[in-house]
Amino acid sequence: MKENAKRIICFSPTGNCKKVALALAERGDDLRDITMPEKRENPPVFGQNEMTVFVMPVYNRGIPDACAEYIKSLDGKGGFASVICVYGGVTKGKSLQKAAKLLTKSNFRVAKGAYVPAPHFYSKEKFNVLSQERLQRIKAFFDGEFAAKAILSLSGVEFSIQPFLRVITGSCRVDFSLCTACGKCKEVCPVNAVRSDFSSAGNCILCGACVKACPARARNIRFHTPVPLLFIKANCKHRDDEFYDFKLPSD
Ligand SMILES: Cc1cc2nc3c(=O)[nH]c(=O)nc-3n(C[C@H](O)[C@H](O)[C@H](O)COP(=O)(O)O)c2cc1C
Ligand code: SF4
Ligand code: SF4
Repeated sequence: MKENAKRIICFSPTGNCKKVALALAERGDDLRDITMPEKRENPPVFGQNEMTVFVMPVYNRGIPDACAEYIKSLDGKGGFASVICVYGGVTKGKSLQKAAKLLTKSNFRVAKGAYVPAPHFYSKEKFNVLSQERLQRIKAFFDGEFAAKAILSLSGVEFSIQPFLRVITGSCRVDFSLCTACGKCKEVCPVNAVRSDFSSAGNCILCGACVKACPARARNIRFHTPVPLLFIKANCKHRDDEFYDFKLPSD
């Protein structure tokens, strides 16, 4: 990587994190989209004086398991990392702190963090549009142009209940009377959960990427009960971007 350039790593099944990642990138920066499984196989080699910004969505108040596993597979070699958690304006939990804790365990020095609300894929009302003005302000924070609102400590539990939550939440269904077998859903699935007959396998993370990509509108997320959508409807609202510095154990 060129001197002073940063690395940006994003996971973005429905495109919001990618929008933020693209806004951060300048000429010479190394932008890596790890949404697809094969892109998570060969991690970059990190350096002590490098800065890597991780841009990840919030799934069930934490980062997606695929992101957590990816971070666990890295060796940051003592380099700097910052984190942006993009969420649907419902609940952010302690996703920044959890991600920062994982990064620290993988030998990164965590520097800055931001919570960035964006339109929720499951919500009919699209709050929190990622305007150019907001994207430029987010970039300005990570470029050091203004100070953080507060300091966060590392925290969060080690285990994930996301597989359990997925099973009780719903499944990704296909209306085969509409499906044209074009294969687009298979091309965008971040966890290889689209079978060769285009049905969804049990490891589906309900990310919505295939629903968005299907030109025949043959796919949808079917919720087992109205609870998740009612919860989202009640809590999804306009939220502000939040900017933080991290307090490390040695500080
Ligand atoms: C399975 C799943 C779980 C989610 N959980 C939350 C959540 O706990 N809180 C929230 O505010 N948004 C939640 N969201 C919304 C996403 O964080 C939001 O849509 C984000 O912008 C997705 O990033 P992407 O467009 O880069 O894929 C969830 C979305 C999905 C698909
Ligand atoms: S993207 Fe839609 S139409 Fe194409 S194979 Fe998948 S389900 Fe069928
Ligand atoms: S099958 Fe599931 S995990 Fe794969 S893209 Fe569709 S919703 Fe996402």
